[in-house]
Amino acid sequence: MLSLKGLRVRYETPRGPFEAVRGVDLEIEAGAFFGLVGESGCGKSSLGRAALRLEPIAGGQIIAFGEDITHAPPRRLRAFRQRAAMIFQDPYASFNPRRTILDAVMEPLRLHRPGPAAAQRDAARALLARVGLSPELEARRPHALSGGQLQRAAIARALALEPALIVADEAVSALDVSVQAEIVQLLKALRAERGLTYLFIAHNLHLVAQICDRVGVMYAGALVEVAAPEEIFTRPRHPYTRALIDAAPSAHRRAQPVTPPRLVDLGPASSGCAFAPRCPQAHAACLRDAPALAARGGGLVACYTPL
Ligand SMILES: Nc1ncnc2c1ncn2[C@@H]1O[C@H](COP(=O)(O)OP(=O)(O)O)[C@@H](O)[C@H]1O
Ligand code: SF4
Ligand SMILES: [Mg+2]
Repeated sequence: MLSLKGLRVRYETPRGPFEAVRGVDLEIEAGAFFGLVGESGCGKSSLGRAALRLEPIAGGQIIAFGEDITHAPPRRLRAFRQRAAMIFQDPYASFNPRRTILDAVMEPLRLHRPGPAAAQRDAARALLARVGLSPELEARRPHALSGGQLQRAAIARALALEPALIVADEAVSALDVSVQAEIVQLLKALRAERGLTYLFIAHNLHLVAQICDRVGVMYAGALVEVAAPEEIFTRPRHPYTRALIDAAPSAHRRAQPVTPPRLVDLGPASSGCAFAPRCPQAHAACLRDAPALAARGGGLVACYTPL
């Protein structure tokens, strides 16, 4: 469904080029609910957006639906983006404040599926109903909806062109826990109904573990571990995954600081393993070359001495 090979994303900044994604290999199978976690700034959004060719690609390959789209020209890209949609954290920022909800959900149809307006309106209404929004909300403007309602509308809009792949970037992170759970249930039901595949980005490891069938852990622009959620929790193999789990709030424990006190953050190492400055297990070999992802148990881990 989606295959990233050595993907690199580089931004030009006033202080020079900055590589936010540093050679990521990732395979997401059709029908998967793939969760991507890691602390803020590690490159999750850059990776998710780059997978849809929304960021500058500095190297590697993106293969989606069996097609290499790394350098696809605008025409092919337009076709690709009808099969792959994105949902963002802040729906208020992604809706035009002056347009009604119905209008917003009709817009992709107007742009990409020319046809009678009445049919487009019916299709948009059916989508709004499917995501659980009652008909009286369709004439409202975005700011007259709650965050949860508007995120439902964003999902309806993302579904308008019947995509097969959805990148959800912190799509529930700003919502209350109970609303989060409802939206997650909706995403799961839609996957079964419509055969969707998700790349679900979140910083809450527990949430991701509950809903995803595979989890990728990202650190400093690279994937450091990929495994099933139960593996990640019961047997984290990368020291960073271990630190994330120790730091994450759970049902029984309050949140700990993201960086446990014994780990000192010295920033990414210039060569070798990027986690070395914070790693309690670092040894000389870790500083020479960066470890590559390698098979371990049922997953993948990038560490010379996995746990
Ligand atoms: N357009 C951009 N220009 C320059 N730097 C960027 C840009 N977008 C993101 N970055 C930087 O890239 C790094 C990764 O950002 P991001 O992908 O948003 O991380 P995450 O989603 O994991 O929080 C951060 O250091 C961020 O400041
Ligand atoms: S390679 Fe070395 S520094 Fe990096 S995570 Fe593994 S033990 Fe720690
Ligand atoms: Mg982000």
